Amino acid sequence: MSVAKNDNHAPLWSGRFKDSPDADAVAFETSINVDARMVQDDIRGSIAHAEMLGRRNIIPREDSQLIVKTLSVIADDIAGGRLEIDPSAEDIHSFVEAVLTDRIGDTGRKLHTGRSRNDQIALDERLYLRRALEELQAEILSLINTLVSVAEKHTGTLLPGYTHMQRAQPVTLAHHLCAWCWPLTRDYGRIADALKRMDFMPLGSGALAGSGLPLDRQAVASALGFSALTQNSLDAVSDRDYCLEAVSALSILMVHLSRCCEEIVLWSTEEFGFISLSESWSTGSSIMPQKKNPDFAELIRGRSGRVFGDLISLLTMMKGLPLSYDRDMQEDKQSLFSAYDTAFSCLKVFNRMIASASWNTGKMKASCTGGHANATDLADYLVRRGMPFRTAHGVAASVVRECIDSGITDMSLLPFDRFSAHSELIGEDVYEFLSPEACVSARNIPGGPAPEAVAEQIKALKDFTACNLKQTEM
Ligand code: ARG
Repeated sequence: MSVAKNDNHAPLWSGRFKDSPDADAVAFETSINVDARMVQDDIRGSIAHAEMLGRRNIIPREDSQLIVKTLSVIADDIAGGRLEIDPSAEDIHSFVEAVLTDRIGDTGRKLHTGRSRNDQIALDERLYLRRALEELQAEILSLINTLVSVAEKHTGTLLPGYTHMQRAQPVTLAHHLCAWCWPLTRDYGRIADALKRMDFMPLGSGALAGSGLPLDRQAVASALGFSALTQNSLDAVSDRDYCLEAVSALSILMVHLSRCCEEIVLWSTEEFGFISLSESWSTGSSIMPQKKNPDFAELIRGRSGRVFGDLISLLTMMKGLPLSYDRDMQEDKQSLFSAYDTAFSCLKVFNRMIASASWNTGKMKASCTGGHANATDLADYLVRRGMPFRTAHGVAASVVRECIDSGITDMSLLPFDRFSAHSELIGEDVYEFLSPEACVSARNIPGGPAPEAVAEQIKALKDFTACNLKQTEM
């Protein structure tokens, strides 16, 4: 394997300096270990740039062709493991340029014509984010599909719904799982929005003030598939709002995953017992032989903090910077990649954990009775008989009070004579409205938990994933 070595650590542009750089200084400023992951994006950008330079006769056509051809070989060599990235290079841009010059001599020194690493990095990050975020979007769709396929089997599976962590009203497992999906559709949309707003090609902005050479920026943008050009050279090399936006979207996604995981942790306790995680996605204890712990849910919940930390790092790094490029901005990649890797792996693990879990429907159903989660339905029953809701709420509350005082855990066990004493509008049919099944199926309005309403949600979620999957294939 060949390694392009930069023996004295001096970059190709060290002519201004008398002294060679201190090895510790070089070690401190290098970012190659972090930005190496953008090598293919960097080369892609360079190929588009070199082609344009040749077409505009800014450099001779043959030189442009040789540069483009050699860059493609370098890209292949790296992809095929025949060329290693030199860890002593300053950054990915100088590494690629050094290898190129190593291979084709002085012609390679023409690549950087009309370009600066400042506009180059703004391009590389966009190219990287475009492919990386699209992969992450595909993971979001896959997770929605997993959740929907579980939901489809459980439109009739009763589950207590909670507010304040107190049993509130019965819903279904399908309704609850769909409630995990909708935030994910919005996460998907937030990433799509971020991608739209970063769809501007920055090359040609130079270090900060554009270029006096007749660059064809539009040709580069078209070659790289950008919809438009950045409109101000200072802004183009200065802002990292596309990173901030991406990491904000990832942070919100992590909030969502973390909340789902919190529920999984609760649901897998003996006390709830609604879910059994598979043994492959659980861990044991070093001391307590009986333990089966939901560590993966806890780790996702815990790792959300890292992504928020990455967002805060980025915001803090940017907030005091004058225009235009400042070296502080090199630090953006550490946060960006860490946030991305964390969110991506959490999505994948969450998906696997859910797909392999089993759902204890008996426990869920049993938890729906007791606790008077049907009290609102009694009030609704009275409203249907013409009682004002506030009065009906009072009657239902007095029924609950009587049940509590006499140790009756579910109002449907209250004998009719005692029930009807609370209001003459209560008929013997009241019991039909109080079972958890009846409570759920009564809530048959758009967005409600009734099986028919949830079937609509499931259909809409399936349409969402199918339509977005088709778009990514196009
Ligand atoms: N590695 C640098 C970064 O990520 C590239 C730009 C360097 N520009 C400079 N003038 N030192 O920001």
